[in-house]
Amino acid sequence: MTTANSPMAGKRVILAVTGSIAVYKAIGLLRLLSQQGATVHVIMTESATRFVTPLTFEVLSGSPVTSDLFSGQEEMKHLSLTAHADVLVVAPCTANTLAKLALGLADNVLGTMALTLQCPMVICPAMDGEMWAHPTVQGHAKTLENRGAIIVEPEKGPLASGQWGQGRLAAEEVILAAVQKVLQPRRDWLGERVLVSAGPTREPIDPVRFLSNGSSGKMGYAIAEAAAARGAEVVLVSGPTQLECPQGVLHVPVETANDMLQALAARFDWATTLVMAAAVGDFRAKDPHNHKVKKDQWNGEALQLERTPDILLALSAQRTHQRMIGFAAETDNLVEHGQAKLQRKQLDMLVANQVGGEDSAFGNDSNAVIVLTPNAAPSPISRVPKRQLADILLDRMKTLSVSPQSQPSALHPLS
Ligand code: CTP
Repeated sequence: MTTANSPMAGKRVILAVTGSIAVYKAIGLLRLLSQQGATVHVIMTESATRFVTPLTFEVLSGSPVTSDLFSGQEEMKHLSLTAHADVLVVAPCTANTLAKLALGLADNVLGTMALTLQCPMVICPAMDGEMWAHPTVQGHAKTLENRGAIIVEPEKGPLASGQWGQGRLAAEEVILAAVQKVLQPRRDWLGERVLVSAGPTREPIDPVRFLSNGSSGKMGYAIAEAAAARGAEVVLVSGPTQLECPQGVLHVPVETANDMLQALAARFDWATTLVMAAAVGDFRAKDPHNHKVKKDQWNGEALQLERTPDILLALSAQRTHQRMIGFAAETDNLVEHGQAKLQRKQLDMLVANQVGGEDSAFGNDSNAVIVLTPNAAPSPISRVPKRQLADILLDRMKTLSVSPQSQPSALHPLS
């Protein structure tokens, strides 16, 4: 009997069962999740239904099973499930399904759902030991892990093949613990003070015209939201965007690069981490007009520009204890340009992303990035929703060891 106090009361779990001999163990997992108070919806691949009938899962979960035996229409209907799920658990996950998930193949219900997923995914592989050890399978597991999935590694023991090795589906208690951990609100940024900049800056040409860029602010807002959700105090210094300030975050609206510098500098001592996700304009009009320039007043003269301050450079010259994270918007040579910025601005981490073209980071709800840190190989993170990327980046930021700099940097913010 479950009650509102059951550990997983109110949680919606999608349990995806794929075609392994370990399918029968998913029955135990389903019972355990239900006993904990979770509402479990089971989906099955066609090959899973050859080991155990959907009816078994239907009776135990108390709701219809979605399987590949249904029509495409049914599939579409069940896609709405992903919008409301708290976690997707793939158990057992075959080598075949692992590959499909890593590659984003959508030729069955699970693959299609995985591509529309808004919640964490816990993957529990089960296969022959040699298959699990194969570099291709390991590569797929790593790809999924890099995208934020939790891999519950198979256990060692006797296998269905008669061999002994690492390939047995993890024990149901181990899977349950991983699911519960994912569902627990993480408070690992408690006690941290995070200063985030986001959005574009605007430099006036006259009272109605300005220089700006196409940054939507989504990445910075996602980081502010994720850090606050994980317990940090967060101040979000933002250029003009269409976004709402996340709950529990202090919003400081700014327009120009200079305003942004002032707003950040005023709070820099307070911060333990600066995340500079803003797309700061590099140029401003040298002599902005204080009245609207009429078109017949313009006789073809060029707009004179000057450089705006480099905010990161200015602040890294004053840093004492702060983690400093920059973003780099590049159209080409991501790693090379990113490394140069990491070094020049004396950062602990630089997140390089592509702008321009179809996959531009600007305005998109998802992003693929390369994380650069001093003395480590570039680390790519494949395309994930920006909110999920924010959590992955916060995980990485948390591990940065920052050595306090007693000597301020000699670099000038305009250099
Ligand atoms: N940045 C900054 N102040 C500026 C320009 C950029 O603080 N005037 C920060 C951005 O917020 C970002 C990082 O520096 O975190 C890199 O920004 P980017 O625009 O990619 O590089 P730039 O330094 O402007 O160099 P370039 O124009 O040569 O690409």
